[in-house]
Amino acid sequence: MFQPFRLERYFAQHEFSAKHLLCTSDCESMTIDELLEIGEPAEAASEAASEAASEAASEAAYKVASKAASKVASERESAPEPEPAVPAAPAPAQAALVSAREKSSASLGKTWLGYTESRGAPALRAAIAALYRNLDMEDVLVHSGAEEAILNTFLAMVGKDALVIVNTPCYQSLMEIPAGLGAKVIPWQIRCEGEAWRLDTDALDGLLASARRGPDSPAPLVVLNMPHNPTGALISAEEFDSIIQVCRRHGAILFMDEVYRLLEYDEKDRLPAVCEVYENGISLSVLSKAWGLAGLRIGWLATRRRDILDKVAAIKDYNSICASAPSEQLALLAIGNTEKIVGRNRAICAENRALFSQFFKAHEELFSWIPPIAGSVAFPSLKAAPKKAGGLSDLSAALAGHDAELFSRILLAETGVLLLPGVHYAFDKAFFRIGLGRRSVPVSLAIFDAWLRGRGL
Ligand SMILES: Cc1ncc(COP(=O)(O)O)c(C=O)c1O
Repeated sequence: MFQPFRLERYFAQHEFSAKHLLCTSDCESMTIDELLEIGEPAEAASEAASEAASEAASEAAYKVASKAASKVASERESAPEPEPAVPAAPAPAQAALVSAREKSSASLGKTWLGYTESRGAPALRAAIAALYRNLDMEDVLVHSGAEEAILNTFLAMVGKDALVIVNTPCYQSLMEIPAGLGAKVIPWQIRCEGEAWRLDTDALDGLLASARRGPDSPAPLVVLNMPHNPTGALISAEEFDSIIQVCRRHGAILFMDEVYRLLEYDEKDRLPAVCEVYENGISLSVLSKAWGLAGLRIGWLATRRRDILDKVAAIKDYNSICASAPSEQLALLAIGNTEKIVGRNRAICAENRALFSQFFKAHEELFSWIPPIAGSVAFPSLKAAPKKAGGLSDLSAALAGHDAELFSRILLAETGVLLLPGVHYAFDKAFFRIGLGRRSVPVSLAIFDAWLRGRGL
């Protein structure tokens, strides 16, 4: 049904064996201990979360909580903590005596390991909703990573007669899944125009108009990933606004993959989330990238179209059912400390972007690159072949043929540095992806640089 996911197969092969990863899309991660050290959820976020949770918790959560309360009352101290609808917090008097780390750790230790609520723990959904303007916890559906949310959304929304317009190159599932489900998928290309990556926003109107079908056809779906993987491109607020106008005119749903949002190099460039500004907009996000917490596998959809969330939730019953309880607990902690965690990762990306700029300047005969405007990835390319290629015939062939796949293979074999060839995005073979989010970038880049110099390049 689906073609193999080239990028994920490539990482499955190399991610845990290559010594120097220079193409990851996630930001620097941390241990559970480090996350606990960061502390309990910021007071305001945690209060807002529990208020919203207690006000709007679903009937199921209420039932669980009251069942738990009566169970505690009858079984007294000897029983294990019951299933909490919201994560337990230490009593205030005790709280003053213990460090934030101990509090968080104790709270994690008390996490009930039964099933969790299918739509996500109420406190977590409330904390996620608080990341957006004017959103409510009922507008949020938690998933196991962004990838599950992508699959479930398409399964819920896309049938054989669906029209799906996807900006390309893209993270493969954004295109592959609707295609595999039998939709008519139309690519909407981002192009390299000298100094910048450009998405032709005017083209969208034509694409939607040309493919218009009968009055009973389902609403077309436009899939847009901004900030963009793999280019690091970001459209302007005006372009975003015009895309929304076009979608509104055509009654299209705009499914925005915003997993790199919050990683803008200049915060003035940050776009609003689509769920904030478009009534038919669905925002997709995840803790893997900006927060660097991919191992938690916590992602979500946020939209004011609750009817769509209902449909996606019905699919989730056939998939993960619910998220992992410890992950939800840790996710709540991370979201309560978003500025600290994401701010740290933005700083890492900015330092690495400066290093990559120096590197590409020093090797401008060999590479072209457009610095990313946002996100933790960028998409440089091999340029015209330089005069000398260190006497290695394979390397000469890679450079002469602008073959980033062969080039990456040689680099990996000789240094352990891993790049991601653009062919895994079904894109021009001269391009390759680099990652800017890891603390190891300076070392990996220095090895890459020394290798090039050793080859006389
Ligand atoms: C654009 C985009 N969307 C979705 C995902 C999936 O995120 P996750 O692996 O956290 O589920 C990725 C991962 O690389 C991505 O780059």
